[in-house]
Amino acid sequence: NADVVPQAPEDPLFGLMAAYRKDTDSKKVDLGIGAYRDDNAKPWVLPVVKAADDLLRKDPDLNHEYLPIGGLADFNFASQKLILGKDSAAIQDKRVISLQTISGTGAVHLGSAFISRFYNPQSAEAKAIYCSSPTWANHNQIITNVHLPVKTYPYFSKETKGLDFDGMIKAIESAAEGSVILLHACAHNPTGVDPTRDQWTKIAHVMRQKRHFPFFDCAYQGFASGSLSTDAWAINYFVDQGFELMIAQSYAKNFGLYGERAGCFHFVAAPSANAQDEVARVGSQLAILQRSEISNPPAYGARIASMVLNDDKLFSQWEEDLRTMSGRIISMRKALKSKLDELETPGKWDHITEQIGMFSFTGLNEQQVGKLREKFHVYMTKNGRISMAGLNTKNVEYFAKALDSVVRE
Ligand code: LMR
Repeated sequence: NADVVPQAPEDPLFGLMAAYRKDTDSKKVDLGIGAYRDDNAKPWVLPVVKAADDLLRKDPDLNHEYLPIGGLADFNFASQKLILGKDSAAIQDKRVISLQTISGTGAVHLGSAFISRFYNPQSAEAKAIYCSSPTWANHNQIITNVHLPVKTYPYFSKETKGLDFDGMIKAIESAAEGSVILLHACAHNPTGVDPTRDQWTKIAHVMRQKRHFPFFDCAYQGFASGSLSTDAWAINYFVDQGFELMIAQSYAKNFGLYGERAGCFHFVAAPSANAQDEVARVGSQLAILQRSEISNPPAYGARIASMVLNDDKLFSQWEEDLRTMSGRIISMRKALKSKLDELETPGKWDHITEQIGMFSFTGLNEQQVGKLREKFHVYMTKNGRISMAGLNTKNVEYFAKALDSVVRE
């Protein structure tokens, strides 16, 4: 009977969103969930999404049939090209298998479920997924739900508010041979700190020596630098090095298609004579996992993304929209930093402009975060992460002053 079911804690991000909505104070600021907002703190429908949506609605042949188990083929193929590059050798060699998923979460889940079911490393110890510490709050429960142990590698240095590269490399080096290492492809969530290219090459080197299995989570392509190819650089470096790897790709943030749940999972086989056969077998098992869990993925968001990805004109318009979003976020980083400089807020705040992507890891502690919420109606996660997209020209000064006040207490 249900008496034995314990109460679960509220989801940290969706709980925060609900609390913000309930708050009736006119000065309230939402720096919680990672969703883009415009300068009026409103959700932004990308003009290119609006254009694709209009075209889609005019299509007289549009129906509501099931998609195949693996999703919309045009969408999957375009997603491969987006993440691996148009001229990717892996695509040409036909050693990539892709399935449309319930956004990035579904793709992380599908990859984790696949590992749980089929991964047979030499030592049982290696059958675990290593996540950065910290990582996106949901990684932990997605992985645990498929009965895999979560292990961690150090990532963030509290002192420098940058990457703890030595700690990261040492942990990856000492992980049991053949461990699965989950890596954020760009715009690390929650820290906003990414390895440099030089550091990525060193990470790849150690992972190759230890025969580790890379699993990339890519939820912010186009959001970190504003350039789609720059943000996929790390993934492509690993692919070029001949790794067998998996990629979880989300279109929530870069298309603003949060509620449509459009994403893609890719398995890339290492170059070999058997690679095509391997991806066919892997694909057949992924299809069974997918069918038993979601049957087949939802059509609408994938149709919109596919239309944009497969049309040169719409694609350029999308790149423009991406620059609008990443540009506004960068300008908010600068604005916040300069307000803190003006206020002579105690501490060093360079990391605000050095970190990239949707988030900044401010370094504020849980108590300060609590005060910001109680006194100033500012909502952010307890770990001190702020979604930069929640700042705008109207509230950045208010937030800087609030932050200044709690730091001085
Ligand atoms: C976030 O970290 O705020 C986003 O990725 C939203 C989510 O699903 O948690």
